[in-house]
Amino acid sequence: PEDIPVITIDGPTASGKGTLADVVAHELGYIVLDSGALYRATGLAARRAGVELDEAEAVAAIAAKLDLHFAKGRVWLGDEDITDALREEASGLAASQVAAHAPVRAALNQLQLDFRCLPGLVADGRDMGSMVFPDAPLKVFLTASAATRAERRHKQLISKGIPANIAGLREDLEARDARDKGRTASPLQAAADARRLDNSAQTIEESRDLVLSWWAEARPFKGSALSH
Ligand code: CDP
Ligand code: CDP
Repeated sequence: PEDIPVITIDGPTASGKGTLADVVAHELGYIVLDSGALYRATGLAARRAGVELDEAEAVAAIAAKLDLHFAKGRVWLGDEDITDALREEASGLAASQVAAHAPVRAALNQLQLDFRCLPGLVADGRDMGSMVFPDAPLKVFLTASAATRAERRHKQLISKGIPANIAGLREDLEARDARDKGRTASPLQAAADARRLDNSAQTIEESRDLVLSWWAEARPFKGSALSH
């Protein structure tokens, strides 16, 4: 598996990781691991099972048995389509609570490694470069200002007809950032060899092309990344 190419994209909430992962993977024909979805699904499954989110071992047992499937852009937990439920802010908050438990992270580790298959993987999350795929030839640490991220999240929600206010969203995302950075188990931090990218003033296409050029540099003999 070490020969299978991986690009990792880590960073705080609403920095654009998922979008960047999708467009980069699309250009390269790679698959995508949205690791946040695994933590979100764990939070959801724990709540469904009546398990308190602060009970590390009980939540880890749920994570280890997670019956999760990805198909045609939808996410299934058992035979339930949980795609929309996963995107709710409450799911993000629950995810960040269960993600603080080391046993939960350990339970999800192999599941994440199993996504590494040919022709290649783009993995986004908080610790893809620092913990899960430390040998990835290209690690991106994606950031944007809190104001920009709150605006992006606001636009996303409004476009889906979900009422939201920017100040409240900014407070929520700063609280989640603080929890993700402050925890002892795999805190949000750039890997030592990560390339930092602040995309506050960038379009998605600009970020995509920059990452593809980094990828061509990181894999000079295999990269056909810039062939389009
Ligand atoms: O995955 P993550 O929470 O980091 O962020 P996302 O869901 O990919 O992006 C949040 C929102 O920001 C999406 O609606 C993106 O379209 C938008 N975005 C943007 O407007 N400009 C960028 N350069 C990157 C993302
Ligand atoms: O889209 P957004 O960045 O808001 O969230 P996400 O990537 O779906 O992740 C939700 C939560 O799961 C984060 O706040 C983290 O606490 C946790 N998470 C993590 O700890 N490690 C990962 N690799 C991915 C997510």
